[in-house]
Amino acid sequence: MGRIILTGDRPTGKLHLGHYVGSLRNRVVLQNEGNYDRMFVFIADVQALTDNAANPEKVRQNIIEVALDYLSCGLDPSKVTIFIQSMIPELHEMTQFFSNLVTVARLQRNPTVKTEIRMRGFQDENGQEAAFGSGVPVGFFTYPISQAADICAFKATTVPVGEDQEPMLEQCREIVRSFNSTYGEVLVEPDILLPSNLACRRLPGTDGKAKMSKSLGNCIYLSDDPKEVERKVKSMFTDPGHLKVEDPGKIEGNTVFSYLDAFVEEGDFERFLPEYPNLDALKDHYRRGGLGDMKCKKFLLAVLQDRLEPIRERRHTFEQDIPGVYDILRKGSEAAREVAAKTLHEMKAAMRINYFEDEALIASQSKKYNG
Ligand code: TRP
Repeated sequence: MGRIILTGDRPTGKLHLGHYVGSLRNRVVLQNEGNYDRMFVFIADVQALTDNAANPEKVRQNIIEVALDYLSCGLDPSKVTIFIQSMIPELHEMTQFFSNLVTVARLQRNPTVKTEIRMRGFQDENGQEAAFGSGVPVGFFTYPISQAADICAFKATTVPVGEDQEPMLEQCREIVRSFNSTYGEVLVEPDILLPSNLACRRLPGTDGKAKMSKSLGNCIYLSDDPKEVERKVKSMFTDPGHLKVEDPGKIEGNTVFSYLDAFVEEGDFERFLPEYPNLDALKDHYRRGGLGDMKCKKFLLAVLQDRLEPIRERRHTFEQDIPGVYDILRKGSEAAREVAAKTLHEMKAAMRINYFEDEALIASQSKKYNG
């Protein structure tokens, strides 16, 4: 059996550096290694609507943003099928069948859903809704099932995502096992693929908060211009105890060093800060004292601009041909739909929902009534 990669993002905003080190960068590596049979990357607009029902325009606007981010990072439509979730109606049929295999209690235990319910103000920590938010939409509550359909429709073996998605993958594997043992071996259990570098799994916001998030205003976007990136890096949170250059500094919780851990590549010191052989030497000096924040920020800025420049250039090219970008998405969606339809057909045959195709069924029913 082949190796199939699938992953996606909700189109609720532009993609930022957290997405980049957490998944995007690795997708391009996977694409170029060619070490797989097929690769799918999709824009999860149906999932985005589960908590944006009143905001379809936001989702619609961000489809092109995410597509441009994908293409500008170097995803190549000749190697990767890029598609839009809502263009694959087969996913809904699968979701419906899967939902019969999942209990309400199991969904309620999904830790990611639990946290998100509180973050979005659907409920407070005691599960109360009336006084606090507007309650949990059923579609939101069941999105892990729909996400299992996204994965299973393509028989994905490998799902490169952030660690917050681990509970989704776990739930998907359970659904696969349940489906296969109930109806027959049709579906494939996927594995999660996390970034190997720990610093990439949870890139903090520029303010030092645990995560980049649009609502906190602490993101650096892939589409930020050089001036914007400079402004954000220069105002980054460091070690609040490191007041004077001579003071010893802390690395842990220091956003500049978290970013350096995630972004520095071989050759960066030689090119941008040749007085240090490597990141360990820079950290040692910072800990000892005598190394200013601004120097570290300038180095980080040089590294980031170097990573972002080719992304900006490609983005600029694709922005000149927006109809072409929609065309890539349309073609990708058509190709993806064929695959999903094939899987759904196999699923329905296994579930014996193939009444018109099953001559033996028609014959046996006929015999039952006519002897
Ligand atoms: N839930 C994912 C996120 O918020 C997006 C997503 C939807 C996804 N369906 C998926 C990711 C299937 C991987 C596979 O980022």
